[in-house]
Amino acid sequence: MKKRIRKAVFPAGGLGTRFLPATKVIPKEMLALVDKPIIQYGVEEAIASGIEHIIIVTGRGKSAIADHFDHSFELEATLERRGKHELLAVSRGVSGLARISYVRQKEPLGLGHAVLCAKDLVGDEPFAVVLPDDVIDAKVPCLRQMIRVFDQRGGSVLATQTVEGPGISAYGVLSGSQDPDNPRIYNCTGMVEKPKFEDAPSKQAIIGRYVLTPRVFELLEQTTPGAGGEIQLTDGILALVKEEKVFGYTFEGKRFDAGDKFGMLQATVEFALKRSDLGPQFREYLKGLQL
Ligand code: UTP
Repeated sequence: MKKRIRKAVFPAGGLGTRFLPATKVIPKEMLALVDKPIIQYGVEEAIASGIEHIIIVTGRGKSAIADHFDHSFELEATLERRGKHELLAVSRGVSGLARISYVRQKEPLGLGHAVLCAKDLVGDEPFAVVLPDDVIDAKVPCLRQMIRVFDQRGGSVLATQTVEGPGISAYGVLSGSQDPDNPRIYNCTGMVEKPKFEDAPSKQAIIGRYVLTPRVFELLEQTTPGAGGEIQLTDGILALVKEEKVFGYTFEGKRFDAGDKFGMLQATVEFALKRSDLGPQFREYLKGLQL
């Protein structure tokens, strides 16, 4: 049963503690990278990858996300009255981006639990998961690259990046072997969450993009919560690996962890430098700092 990937789940129910105090009131997913909330980068990537239906898993204090993707009547009427047509198009463009549904995760019980909250909206078809704090700069959208692998190989696909050195301990790491036909593909036999550097089974670190078959929902339902009462997505995927083909895929592009202060700073510098309206001025400013 190979079906087209039409839906993408965006888990956005977490507390964003790494970015306190900014995230005390403002959802992490709404923090601006240059001038756009980080979740919008993911939504645009999903649409550019052929996704037709976005499902955002929200929680307490996250209503700004739904407001952002909705019409803003007062703002748009004011911009129209003032003749600010470019800004009006920007605002209208956001609300016209995609078909978006929302489901609430009543308590932040883990990433696996958040994905499970989308089960009824996804139904019995393969789907994508996009973690909004991972912002990816790529010529071909990362999710599109992954969907291509899914279409060719017919199994779940986990995006990975190669991490050299002890930094690997911050990630879930794949075990398995590189595919003989395509060095970007990794035939996955398992994974270890945040291993010690010396215990890491490979250099393939899992990042926040997944294409999964719906079987993962049943497996997540059977997963017993781990430490802190959380249901981890990794546990569901580990169970999936035992039953179905699962591939790692080293995507082409650069990923930034915008849910982390340092990652957000890196992304801000690189995205701003690439902007035609800001880049030249910003480059001069940075040069002038004489670091
Ligand atoms: P993170 O661990 O990066 O997010 O989860 P967090 O828990 O919000 O952040 P920190 O670590 O406290 O700073 C990855 C993604 O999973 C979502 C988060 O919103 C984030 O997009 N998530 C996490 C949920 O939707 N529900 C959860 O229970 C946990």
